[in-house]
Amino acid sequence: MSVIEGKTIWVTGASSGIGQALAQRLADHNNFVIISSRSRESLLDVQKASPKRIRVLPCDVSDDGAMDQAGRELAELTDQLDLVVACAGTCEYDNGLQLDSASYRRVFDANFFGVVNTLRQALPLLARSKAPVFAAVGSLSSVVGFPRAEAYGASKAALGYFLDAVRADLSRTCLKVVHIRPGFIDTPLTERNDFDMPFLMTPEAAAERIERGLARGHSTIDFPKRLSWSLRFFGFFRSLWFRISAPRMTRIRSLASRQ
Ligand SMILES: NC(=O)c1ccc[n+]([C@@H]2O[C@H](COP(=O)([O-])OP(=O)(O)OC[C@H]3O[C@@H](n4cnc5c(N)ncnc54)[C@H](OP(=O)(O)O)[C@@H]3O)[C@@H](O)[C@H]2O)c1
Repeated sequence: MSVIEGKTIWVTGASSGIGQALAQRLADHNNFVIISSRSRESLLDVQKASPKRIRVLPCDVSDDGAMDQAGRELAELTDQLDLVVACAGTCEYDNGLQLDSASYRRVFDANFFGVVNTLRQALPLLARSKAPVFAAVGSLSSVVGFPRAEAYGASKAALGYFLDAVRADLSRTCLKVVHIRPGFIDTPLTERNDFDMPFLMTPEAAAERIERGLARGHSTIDFPKRLSWSLRFFGFFRSLWFRISAPRMTRIRSLASRQ
């Protein structure tokens, strides 16, 4: 079985990229899909493809109060959720290791606290499903330390730990927790990347992998496999990563001028 059908689903970050492709795919498979992001207009555009099966719920996942309000609106749209995919996220690189804490906070607010806020609002509605699933989108970049990705990679690594701890806490319940870790996907988030992105995939291909992994009941959904295997190899042999790969990628040549 590789398709999800007839479920009530909340997808955040659904106005573009991976979240949009996933929401559209799930709506095409006869699911009732509630989509969120900050931009109402973009969500309404996505809804046009499936007006009967998609409802919009604009919200900023990083805003605790706004998410409490979104939770109340969510409960008006549905009395239960079978699946939540927390996909909203952002990326800011730390060029020249500036360690600008405001940038790190923005990234953690969306990628980490955004998922905490999403789960808080979703749990009461997930509790009414017979087989509830909470999935969040991390990144394969959290497997090893990438130059310039201090904030982004750390937020996704923290997310991985958070999901494991939630899974442990709820291990005697029927809630399934899923960690989705894509490689490079061609979306607005990556279009400003000025480096080689091996095994780049389309958002539609990513959505297909995610739906298939969820339908098959996987707890971790890593793709593409070729990238995930090579990064896991380096995650195991960490000294090789720091001796061979990292020096080829970093742009910093001297501690005095970190440019
Ligand atoms: N693209 C990749 O290569 C890649 C790889 C690994 C993991 N990921 C992860 O996949 C997820 C989706 O990324 P993408 O590549 O599809 O990027 P994208 O096209 O830029 O989509 C990001 C989505 O998140 C929403 N969003 C951002 N901040 C938000 C906030 N504070 N509150 C609510 N919604 C917010 C955006 O909508 P608004 O701006 O309208 O709010 C948009 O819908 C992210 O978590 C990203 O880290 C991406």
